[in-house]
Amino acid sequence: MSKNLVLYFSVYGSTKLVAEEIAEQTGADLVEIEPAIPYDSNKNHYNALARFAQKEHDEDMRPAIKNKISIDGYDNIFIGYPMWWYTFPMIIYTLFDQYNFSDKTIIPFNTHMGSSDGGTYHTIEKLAPKARVLKGLPIEMSEAEHGCTDAVAEWMKSLNF
Ligand SMILES: Cc1cc2nc3c(=O)[nH]c(=O)nc-3n(C[C@H](O)[C@H](O)[C@H](O)COP(=O)(O)O)c2cc1C
Repeated sequence: MSKNLVLYFSVYGSTKLVAEEIAEQTGADLVEIEPAIPYDSNKNHYNALARFAQKEHDEDMRPAIKNKISIDGYDNIFIGYPMWWYTFPMIIYTLFDQYNFSDKTIIPFNTHMGSSDGGTYHTIEKLAPKARVLKGLPIEMSEAEHGCTDAVAEWMKSLNF
């Protein structure tokens, strides 16, 4: 039987909810991508986070990941993140810099507030050219928060999972 892993990065918690739903429906292990320097998850400070994230993007930074993640032994790896400035947070680049996804199957998902996946699923294909990247699932933040059980179930069905 193939082994499944859900890896996710989330600051406000909505991507985490989707990650938990996927893990629940697939029996996958669940691992958070934890930043070495935590981001401010207080939504009242959104503007400061937005500025900080833009600086990370403009300066092509690679924010460090605190936890050691093991992807060995997993066949299918779901990778989830929020949309930040029309792409994924720079820590996802760190993930692809540090881990070798060759021969793995990657299944991306993300939360957003209108940008859908922002072309990030294609970016993943470029960052992990020897991986097989399956059809991803973009989910609006409000849908993630109000329950994405059906959306995840439909997606799983379309992937023959
Ligand atoms: C710094 C920052 C930048 C964002 N940029 C975008 C964006 O370009 N497009 C979009 O649709 N949503 C954008 N959002 C909204 C987030 O994608 C959305 O709130 C997401 O669900 C948050 O995920 P989380 O709860 O897992 O942290 C942005 C949010 C933040 C904090």
